[in-house]
Amino acid sequence: MITIPYLTALSTYFSYGLLFAFGQFRDFFRKIFDWWHASNLQGYAPICLGLEDFYIRRLYLRIQDCFGRPISSAPDAWFDVVERYSNDNNKTLKRTDKINKCLNLGSYNYLGFAASDEYCTPRVINSLNRFSASTCSTRVDGGTTTVHKELEECVANFVGKPAAIVFGMGYVTNSAILPVLIGKGGLIISDSLNHNSIVNGARGSGATIRVFQHNTPSHLEKVLREQIAEGQPRTHRPWKKIIVVVEGIYSMEGELCKLPEIVAICKKYKAYVYLDEAHSIGAVGKSGRGVCELLGVDTADVDIMMGTFTKSFGSCGGYIAGSKELIQYLKYTCPAHLYATSISPPAAQQIISAIKVILGEDGSSRGAQKLARIRKNSNFFRSELQKMGFEVLGDNDSPVMPIMLYNPAKIPAFSRECLKQNVAVVTVAFPATPLLLARARICLSASHTKEDLLKALEVISQVGDLVGIKYFPAEPKKQQQQQQQKQGKGTIKLE
Ligand SMILES: Cc1ncc(COP(=O)(O)O)c(C=O)c1O
Ligand SMILES: *[C@@H]1O[C@H](CO)[C@@H](O)[C@H](O)[C@H]1NC(C)=O
Repeated sequence: MITIPYLTALSTYFSYGLLFAFGQFRDFFRKIFDWWHASNLQGYAPICLGLEDFYIRRLYLRIQDCFGRPISSAPDAWFDVVERYSNDNNKTLKRTDKINKCLNLGSYNYLGFAASDEYCTPRVINSLNRFSASTCSTRVDGGTTTVHKELEECVANFVGKPAAIVFGMGYVTNSAILPVLIGKGGLIISDSLNHNSIVNGARGSGATIRVFQHNTPSHLEKVLREQIAEGQPRTHRPWKKIIVVVEGIYSMEGELCKLPEIVAICKKYKAYVYLDEAHSIGAVGKSGRGVCELLGVDTADVDIMMGTFTKSFGSCGGYIAGSKELIQYLKYTCPAHLYATSISPPAAQQIISAIKVILGEDGSSRGAQKLARIRKNSNFFRSELQKMGFEVLGDNDSPVMPIMLYNPAKIPAFSRECLKQNVAVVTVAFPATPLLLARARICLSASHTKEDLLKALEVISQVGDLVGIKYFPAEPKKQQQQQQQKQGKGTIKLE
């Protein structure tokens, strides 16, 4: 839960109001102009959806230079950001040959495996030579190689489940698996801030969907009790099956899941637990095994363990790990397994090698060092940002730390000023976050050195002063403000 000072909320609403009004005004004239020229297709409905189209044209395009910046190197601690220019007020952006070496605070490269690695890279190149970039076939036809078999065993062993199945894309892992697990007559109870892949998977399943307040076990219990008492819509028959879907680390919040409490409630009401560990697997826990290890939850209590290889392992794809029966069932039924080309063999080899390094099976202690480093980096950076007076979301140990910006004007200001000083940051706003809660999201990596972090802090502090986002300025005032916020004075509560 985030509490916004009234004044900030007011000015943020005002800014969006102004942008909206001005955009509508311009659209009005555009319509007249179009009517005059009659160049549009007559009699057709507009192909782009109304409000979304408006938002893109009148709000997003104004600051599009802050998004989708092309990169011309691996996403290591430092990377090459391509300079762009525009001749039409940023409506279209053209690439130049110039690059800027920037400190990378945006990639999900938690363990530093996204760049060349002395153990992984030679093995990946070998597998590229041997298997080529693609299998050009689905898993059930000619697309299962020895690397795929090894990967599934390796993943199951790593996450602590009897079996696993892998997919070429993390997003698809959620959106294609949920409809296979549950359908009409079933109930999905989903955290309010779950990732879009879960939302779309849940919608595609045809099951009834109920949402519980973000990371609030007591509300989950309330929803469960109500829904079990109520039963299926109209018929009031008991639900065929109930699945509770949560994430290990929430990628926009940097928060850890309250897994022990949630698992206990699900056990009590006999609901299955589906845990998406996209951001936590490899990144947290003593041996990198994710939130179960970090929070002391037995993996036997989590029925469906999902994760992606696109973060800590520096590759692509996703997995589902569970009981032998479950994985067997998925292999016969999941369309993403039956009808999609299998994960690229070099990408699969990258994951196997990264897991071996994490487990120390490469014969070095580099894995353990990486894990210690990401934890140390994250906790140092978070506490420094807080000391500076930023409003930082998330929990200790989490490598994701959002800095609240709120006001739409502060999004491009923060992003552009940081880039000017060679610090590349990711900003996120509506629709990825609620309208009022725009933020910059820092993702740290084990490959960031102490000097990197000190530079980042210096730049962010300076830009923070310039842009005016140190919402908790001096220490004493901060305590006072937090006290006030606890009592709910001068603030608006938002989930
Ligand atoms: C929680 C969560 N699940 C799934 C995904 C999708 O994974 P991928 O990017 O590997 O397709 C993401 C991606 O960011 C995520 O944050
Ligand atoms: C276009 O983008 C640049 C940064 O890439 C920015 O400095 C400039 O203000 C933008 N111009 C407009 C008209 O938004």
